[in-house]
Amino acid sequence: MSWTTIETERLILRHWLTADSEPFAALNADPRVMEFFPSPLTRKQSDEFIDRIAAGFVSHGFGLWALELKATGDFIGFTGLSIPRFEAAFMPTVEVGWRLAKSAWGNGYATEAARASIREGFERYDLQEIVSFTYEGNMPSRAVMERLQMTREPGDDFVHPSLVGHRLAPHVLYRLPADP
Ligand SMILES: CC(C)(COP(=O)(O)OP(=O)(O)OC[C@H]1O[C@@H](n2cnc3c(N)ncnc32)[C@H](O)[C@@H]1OP(=O)(O)O)[C@@H](O)C(=O)NCCC(=O)NCCS
Repeated sequence: MSWTTIETERLILRHWLTADSEPFAALNADPRVMEFFPSPLTRKQSDEFIDRIAAGFVSHGFGLWALELKATGDFIGFTGLSIPRFEAAFMPTVEVGWRLAKSAWGNGYATEAARASIREGFERYDLQEIVSFTYEGNMPSRAVMERLQMTREPGDDFVHPSLVGHRLAPHVLYRLPADP
């Protein structure tokens, strides 16, 4: 199968390799990476997540690309496009998202990879809009959205239906139209 590979200045956005399973499980088990998720993931949950990502690429062509650092060949996490599955006023839509190992934060990698993912979504898949959302207190993630010139209308804020009653339920939504 040939999945799209995208190259940026410092990164390769590529399909997932068996060798990614272990470092991906490690970052999913890191409480610092998973601070704004209900809990860290077990190895089994992390491996199942990779299986779902792979299935998404088969269905849509795009997906959450594994990120490889060109300089070292290291796997550092994912960035890419996915189709959210819950009920909300802004559905159906395509989301851009990211999750990087703590050691890779603070280098601009998430923003660099997200820019390339968004370009792919608009140019190859002809998407009219890409959104991103997160827990309202996830400021590092919101900062990525803002660096991407995504904009938030407070009227789009929502309670994540899978997290009702949870402290992480309040979510903000950022949008980016294809033709601003
Ligand atoms: C969200 C997340 C990807 C943000 O990571 P990040 O490293 O802060 O974001 P970027 O990759 O865009 O890097 C930006 C930072 O790199 C710095 N930087 C250093 N060198 C840089 C360069 N050459 N180019 C651009 N930025 C650079 C920027 O100044 C900025 O630092 P600052 O926040 O101190 O101002 C990361 O916190 C994460 O993986 N969190 C856990 C998962 C998660 O919450 N995902 C979102 C769920 S919705």
